[in-house]
Amino acid sequence: MAPLLRRLLAAEQRAFLHRDRRGWMEHLARTRAFLGAGLAAADAARPVLILGAGAGLEVPWGQAPKDSWGWDADPWSRARTGLRHLRWPAWIFEDLTGGLEALEQAARRCTREPWAEGRARPRERACARLAGLLPSLGAEGTALGSWIARYRPGVVLSANVMGQFGVVAQRLLEEILGPWPWVEDPEELDPLGEALDQWIARSLRAHLTRLAATPGSLRLVFDRGVVHGGDGLALGAWTDAWEEQLLGRGRLEVEDPLCGVDPVAELRLRDPVREVLKRERWLWPVAPGQTHVVEAVALGPPVL
Ligand SMILES: C[S@@+](CC[C@H](N)C(=O)[O-])C[C@H]1O[C@@H](n2cnc3c(N)ncnc32)[C@H](O)[C@@H]1O
Repeated sequence: MAPLLRRLLAAEQRAFLHRDRRGWMEHLARTRAFLGAGLAAADAARPVLILGAGAGLEVPWGQAPKDSWGWDADPWSRARTGLRHLRWPAWIFEDLTGGLEALEQAARRCTREPWAEGRARPRERACARLAGLLPSLGAEGTALGSWIARYRPGVVLSANVMGQFGVVAQRLLEEILGPWPWVEDPEELDPLGEALDQWIARSLRAHLTRLAATPGSLRLVFDRGVVHGGDGLALGAWTDAWEEQLLGRGRLEVEDPLCGVDPVAELRLRDPVREVLKRERWLWPVAPGQTHVVEAVALGPPVL
């Protein structure tokens, strides 16, 4: 993985670990219990794969069978997991989207004029050029597909990583194009922001296609939404549109980290008979004024 990406992922994880975690107790307990139930039920004769394993804050490695693998592109993730759990599992450090390096190269190319010995291109034109190129950039998650086909895991856990695909891609473009290359005013067009949202949605759909091909069961924990502001937030009755469940006072601003992709609906499209065994949602107060709607879903193995 390219040095900038390694540095970015390490910085993101450092920031995550250094947040004030006083409001995280319920989130951590529920995530650990949900992932732990998948680990405890795993067939010890088959490999287990933990995606977004990070520093092991949310992952109860003590319950993981011997042949369990972590997957996280942060270069410090395995060492942090080792220190926290006194265990050194096998690890894969690759980019799960499979598209971040191509995105980085394309963004770098767009910052230079091709005809003038690499002279810097004005930022607005670099952003417009990249917006035009983005639809042709793939993010197929090939490494994950190959790993699953080779090792045929009995369980795959996704530990809060899907909502990060977009965050990392955004940070990457901000590093290369300069701070905040997006158009803030919702009344104005933002071709780069929209093209990136579509890239994120494509990468998530490709990722879910890989997960749907898993021969074992799946347990996914992911950010379904990010809420800014509001007071006394709570979740109302379950509806597919997560925004409609939000109850509370005050002005709310909502963000969709999955750019319109509903993981369960996507998995169902690819494998309509795989059974949803359990589905939970809860609120995670990540920081003052920022609350995440977290969803956890357990799916059985494919029905053959
Ligand atoms: C919110 S953290 C999850 C924390 C982790 N579950 C734990 O228990 O510490 C998201 C993790 O996903 C990893 N990640 C983000 N994007 C990734 C990608 N494209 N490929 C591989 N790992 C990625 C980050 O390095 C980070 O460790």
